[in-house]
Amino acid sequence: MDTKKLSSTLRQRLEGRSAKVAVIGLGYVGLPLATAAAEAGHSVIGVDLSQRRVKDVNSGISTIQDIPSEVVRRLVSTGRLRATSDYSELKDVDVAVIAVPTPIDEYRVPDLSFVRGAIEALAPVVKPGSLVILESTSYPGTTDEIVVPALRAQGKVAGEDVFVGYSPERIDPGNKKWTLTNTPKIVSGLTKESLELTMAWYGSFVEHLVPVSSLKTAEIAKVFENIFRIVNIALVNEFQMICDSFEIDVWEVIAACSTKPYGFMPFYPGPGLGGHCVPVDPFYLAWKAREKHVNTEFIELAGRINHQMPGYVVAKVARLLNGRGKALLAARVALIGVAYKKDTSDVRESAAIRIIELLQREGADVTYHDPYVPSIAVEGTELTSQPLSAGYLSAKDVIVIVTDHVAIDWSLIAPHRPIVVDTRNVFGRSFAGNFPRDQDVGAAVKLGSDV
Ligand SMILES: NC(=O)c1ccc[n+]([C@@H]2O[C@H](COP(=O)([O-])OP(=O)(O)OC[C@H]3O[C@@H](n4cnc5c(N)ncnc54)[C@H](O)[C@@H]3O)[C@@H](O)[C@H]2O)c1
Repeated sequence: MDTKKLSSTLRQRLEGRSAKVAVIGLGYVGLPLATAAAEAGHSVIGVDLSQRRVKDVNSGISTIQDIPSEVVRRLVSTGRLRATSDYSELKDVDVAVIAVPTPIDEYRVPDLSFVRGAIEALAPVVKPGSLVILESTSYPGTTDEIVVPALRAQGKVAGEDVFVGYSPERIDPGNKKWTLTNTPKIVSGLTKESLELTMAWYGSFVEHLVPVSSLKTAEIAKVFENIFRIVNIALVNEFQMICDSFEIDVWEVIAACSTKPYGFMPFYPGPGLGGHCVPVDPFYLAWKAREKHVNTEFIELAGRINHQMPGYVVAKVARLLNGRGKALLAARVALIGVAYKKDTSDVRESAAIRIIELLQREGADVTYHDPYVPSIAVEGTELTSQPLSAGYLSAKDVIVIVTDHVAIDWSLIAPHRPIVVDTRNVFGRSFAGNFPRDQDVGAAVKLGSDV
């Protein structure tokens, strides 16, 4: 096939914003991408194996908090966006972007079955001259080792018949300032033409592109961004435990250090890591690096420290109860917020789940309030969010603040507090100086970690 001709035809379609695009996987990454591409004028078909996701999109319902349903409804009603579970409908697409999950199993081994499933379903139908891009986060070599061979198995030569790119997603759910379109996007291609086309595609709706020299450079760059976070979060979590032992307020220390105009970047302690990315992605590299006989000690250590944080929170709860002559057994504990980060409904890998598990194992009676999470499954049992009221709070022995959602009326908690373990420094920030410390235990516990 004439690669140059195929490339120039696709380029014209991309520049004229008349390309037919498939976004495979309509989750936190795929749905925002599908809507941004449709807004830019492309005709987008979203593919998801979940019938519910497909039905929701086709009914104009967004399941992703950052994408309003009216946007989906408008794009669906104007024919720019629709969803399907049927890969045979992708026969005539010009661009196909794969944004499916890349989890790890309980032994921290990468599970690339979703990526394999997507490319193996796409490869037989994708037409010559199209562009296939992987956006799922993975270790360096994934596109070469999984996408390229799957195309070859269908008689399609990557880089000649089908162009191939890799572009990691940097979406930060809940972030209003940095969105898909204004966050610089790393792009890479298998060949020169693949990179140029990948740039033409993203350039139609992303403001700044950062081309790099190879697929594996782009793949490892994404993983390193998350290693940077996991290591720094572990550092500050360990530092919190050190500060606690000296009865020093860790938040005050961080605020003081943050006044240094150079050479310091603040990270904040918390109840443990959560989400689909930061606790997971680094272990993709740790696993792959074993193939090269290279150690990844920072990643392993950071994993260990962050992993122990829910236990640290529970130990704190037990210590505070003890100070009042009470036990965890039968203690009434309310968690405020169970999402892994503020202003989202995402509970994947949330520290709250582990905290609830540990508290329940000690016999505590645990309930929660989260305005964005109506129910949560913990060890096979479903808990439902309780309305936040003075009555609810005053009937508790302990309140554990896990997620600092802006929408929560924190003033409700202050007057009715029993013991409050504030893992996010909500009260340190909002009530600085005015919040009465718990008299029984205040001396032993510092503002920010516990109030
Ligand atoms: N969530 C984030 O903030 C974020 C940020 C950057 C990168 N990422 C990465 O992006 C990728 C996708 O993550 P996500 O958070 O959007 O996942 P998600 O679970 O929200 O969505 C993935 C969707 O893919 C669908 N799916 C799975 N296999 C499929 C297949 N073979 N064909 C079609 N659909 C399929 C699932 O049903 C699901 O709806 C992951 O690699 C993740 O690490 C996520």
